[in-house]
Amino acid sequence: IPALPEGYQIRRINADDYERGALETLKTLTTVGKISKEEFTELINTWDKNPEIYHTLLVLNPSGKVAAIGSIIVESKLIHKCGKVGHIEDIAVNRNEQGKKLGLTLIRRLINIGAEAGCYKVILDCDPANELFYVKCGLSRTGVEMQFRF
Ligand code: ACO
Repeated sequence: IPALPEGYQIRRINADDYERGALETLKTLTTVGKISKEEFTELINTWDKNPEIYHTLLVLNPSGKVAAIGSIIVESKLIHKCGKVGHIEDIAVNRNEQGKKLGLTLIRRLINIGAEAGCYKVILDCDPANELFYVKCGLSRTGVEMQFRF
């Protein structure tokens, strides 16, 4: 795993991160909507009740602001002898923090969490424009993404 730039750190999200810009960073990826501090705290509490399933990591910059965010959800299955699959979701690096290998470091850390949880694979869906980024993170293209949109 590459080292983060000087002064940056990576750790699990907590309820205090509402003020550190976790939601603003996610806006780089998609629509986030208006989320109150209470709603944010409730969701973090839901994740913290199932810490073996939900893992969301933040990269903080030297000013203590969120520079990048990403998650892995560890799914327990029946197939592969009650195997586990890690689903990487909602990766976002702040526009002014892109190109510093924060995304790569974050993905590597999430894959490590999957490995330590005993996953036999880690998967994700992405825009074709990001394929080369994920190839550089060590993933390879398989299958076709399908959706039923509501
Ligand atoms: N296409 C091709 N190569 C790329 C791309 C890209 N879109 N983005 C980064 N790379 C390359 C870099 O040039 C670098 O290559 P190098 O090692 O040869 O120098 C390598 O990948 C690692 O790049 P990082 O600096 O770690 O990338 P960054 O921190 O900027 O994060 C990311 C990349 C996550 C795609 C970021 O640009 C971003 O947040 N984009 C907007 C939101 C987004 O699209 N998120 C991913 C959604 S998919 C999902 O959530 C499962």
